[in-house]
Amino acid sequence: MAQEVRGVIAPGKDEPVRIETVVVPDPGPGEAVVRVQACGVCHTDLHYKQGGIGDDFPFLLGHEAAGVVESVGDGVTDVEPGDFVILNWRAVCGKCRACLRGRPWYCFDTHNARQRMTLTDGTELSPALGIGAFAEKTLVAAGQCTKVDPAVSAQVAGLLGCGVMAGIGAAINTGNVGRGDSVAVIGCGGVGDAAIAGSRLAGAAKIIAVDIDDRKLETARSMGATHTVNSRETDPVEAIRDLTGGFGADVVIEAVGRPETYRQAFYARDLAGTVVLVGVPTPEMKLELPLLDVFGRGGSLKSSWYGDCLPSRDFPMLIDLHLQGRLDLAAFVTETIRLDEVEKAFERMHRGDVLRSVVVL
Ligand SMILES: NC(=O)c1ccc[n+]([C@@H]2O[C@H](COP(=O)([O-])OP(=O)(O)OC[C@H]3O[C@@H](n4cnc5c(N)ncnc54)[C@H](O)[C@@H]3O)[C@@H](O)[C@H]2O)c1
Ligand SMILES: [Zn+2]
Ligand SMILES: [Zn+2]
Repeated sequence: MAQEVRGVIAPGKDEPVRIETVVVPDPGPGEAVVRVQACGVCHTDLHYKQGGIGDDFPFLLGHEAAGVVESVGDGVTDVEPGDFVILNWRAVCGKCRACLRGRPWYCFDTHNARQRMTLTDGTELSPALGIGAFAEKTLVAAGQCTKVDPAVSAQVAGLLGCGVMAGIGAAINTGNVGRGDSVAVIGCGGVGDAAIAGSRLAGAAKIIAVDIDDRKLETARSMGATHTVNSRETDPVEAIRDLTGGFGADVVIEAVGRPETYRQAFYARDLAGTVVLVGVPTPEMKLELPLLDVFGRGGSLKSSWYGDCLPSRDFPMLIDLHLQGRLDLAAFVTETIRLDEVEKAFERMHRGDVLRSVVVL
């Protein structure tokens, strides 16, 4: 029997979000219904609402969530009702050329639930990133559920579902930050701060935070930045070079998603260093660089999708480190809110007032 729950819908481009009744079908083969306990508000939800990620309105927003599996469909063996899980938006297929080469974090054929959730009049909903978790319950592919230690609070666990995992993974997976490295992080929102926390976890000796907002730099310090640079006042490339013996950082992580900050990252790294682009650009942005500098500076220029994470490997490990007191995930939660406060949370996010607002259900 399909169930009716409350969910936050983006009805059309730039229209305010509203709460509607959502019909959640019973899980079919390979699917699971999850009772959502908490879901963070991410910039990508705002992009959906603004029409920046296609026009498949209405969207069911929310994708940074944790909850308890309520029911599973045929053939599901990895999770069962009662399991505490974090939802991920890259359920790997196990069959594509990336998966077959043993690099499933690049999976080129990730999947979601086959059935659609609808409004009561039958209108099909497009769940944000194939999740749609600003809702009391949601339908996902079972592979989107990763079991973690239930001792962690849902509001903290859910963060790993998107931005915080993207940032930590940009440092430890994509950037391969190691003991003694120097790291610079440009853009210290939730993603950049997570890259800072990940770099600290990996043993980086120097972590330089760059932002245009002093409030963000203060938080970055509490996350593990050893130095801060306000790039409105100081040239960040020179500042990063000065702080690294004149050479530049071993790894520079760009967590804004703009050509000018990418160029800063490119020139602020040491010869043969690594640039990691985790910020997401918009379609019209262009980058121009002297090809000779691309060649002459060597090293690697990488992009990081979802922190190149493998949820089954990374989520339980990071939750364990958090429970042991070695990774303060709770520091990312600025406030907890109700389902009907998502619109207000978007405004606060837009003003730069929060790292994460988390809807608690
Ligand atoms: N690659 C992925 O898988 C992935 C996943 C989630 C989010 N993201 C992307 O990561 C980026 C950051 O996300 P967020 O949630 O941290 O956003 P956010 O808005 O919270 O943070 C952005 C930060 O960048 C700073 N900033 C803006 N312009 C700047 C500039 N010119 N120089 C230096 N700092 C500047 C802002 O002050 C803010 O602190 C976004 O582009 C988001 O879409 C990527
Ligand atoms: Zn695959
Ligand atoms: Zn997100």
